[in-house]
Amino acid sequence: MNKPKVFVTRHILDSGLNLIQGFCEVEMWPGELPPSHPELLNHVRGQEGLLCLLTDKIDKEVMETAGVSLKVISNCAAGVDNVDVTVASARGIPVGNTPDVLTDATADFTFALLMAAARRVVEGERVVRSGGWKTWSLDTLLGADFYGAVLGLVGFGRIGKAVARRANGFGMRIIYTDSQQQVSQEPGITADRVNLDTLLRESDFISLHTPLTIETRGLINSAAFEKMKPNTVLVNTSRGPIVDQKALCEALKSRRIFAAALDVTEPEPIPPDSPLLNLENCIIVPHIASASWHTRQCMSRMAAENLIAGLKGEPLPNCVNPEVYSRPISIHRQ
Ligand code: DGY
Repeated sequence: MNKPKVFVTRHILDSGLNLIQGFCEVEMWPGELPPSHPELLNHVRGQEGLLCLLTDKIDKEVMETAGVSLKVISNCAAGVDNVDVTVASARGIPVGNTPDVLTDATADFTFALLMAAARRVVEGERVVRSGGWKTWSLDTLLGADFYGAVLGLVGFGRIGKAVARRANGFGMRIIYTDSQQQVSQEPGITADRVNLDTLLRESDFISLHTPLTIETRGLINSAAFEKMKPNTVLVNTSRGPIVDQKALCEALKSRRIFAAALDVTEPEPIPPDSPLLNLENCIIVPHIASASWHTRQCMSRMAAENLIAGLKGEPLPNCVNPEVYSRPISIHRQ
């Protein structure tokens, strides 16, 4: 029997690759960098499955070029803002993602960034490397305390709650916003729901854990920075475009806020001439919040399982558009 043909847009880890190679005829993009859009179009034609990363823009053109054969899109990430899910749904294509397995790694890393920015770890390291460490003094690189401080979480899903659990252990007071009407309160987490305005005004630390949508794009803009306390530390491990980077740069430069740490930027990678890179009170790392050995193996495996389920015509273990299983296809796949 012929194996189903799939295109994998970049190398994935063994836990997933072995599964896919056992079940499919795999064409894997060999580059260290993602395929360009034309390259993606070239390689997706006639494939039955597509396993992609968050660096690939999977739009209508990609799906149309793949054609009627395309049965499943498996995104090896929790966020799916790089995939046009509306078009996929209209074409009856299930889209898979990899939530849950990255929750703790991302929450750990969020805390690493909160602490690094608040206690000026990167700045201190730069001082030492550049030969600037002359003596010990009482006012060298003073930063912010965690105990008793207010942490504002924008988004209280799995990752937001995992950050809250850690913050409770640090003796912080937690407030949050969430776009869902009902947010389940978890045992072991003490947190109060507030509106965004209150969160911006009352928080000492603000951490973003909301997906990128039309509503959240540019959510943290100059008006938001105006409301923040001057000691605010902002951390973004969600998606770059949620923060207006120009406004952030102004807020950091003018000391409107104390510091920021970004795991995600707009665009990625951030251009080397970005003014943010000249600011001592801004830490930027290359989208690595989920990058622990175990987590990335789990993500690779989960993406492979979603892909294979879709090829078999079974429901994906993690599907972001389950309506495809109950709704008639509204666009003729061509
Ligand atoms: C995701 O999965 O959406 C993260 O941004 C990368 O792990």
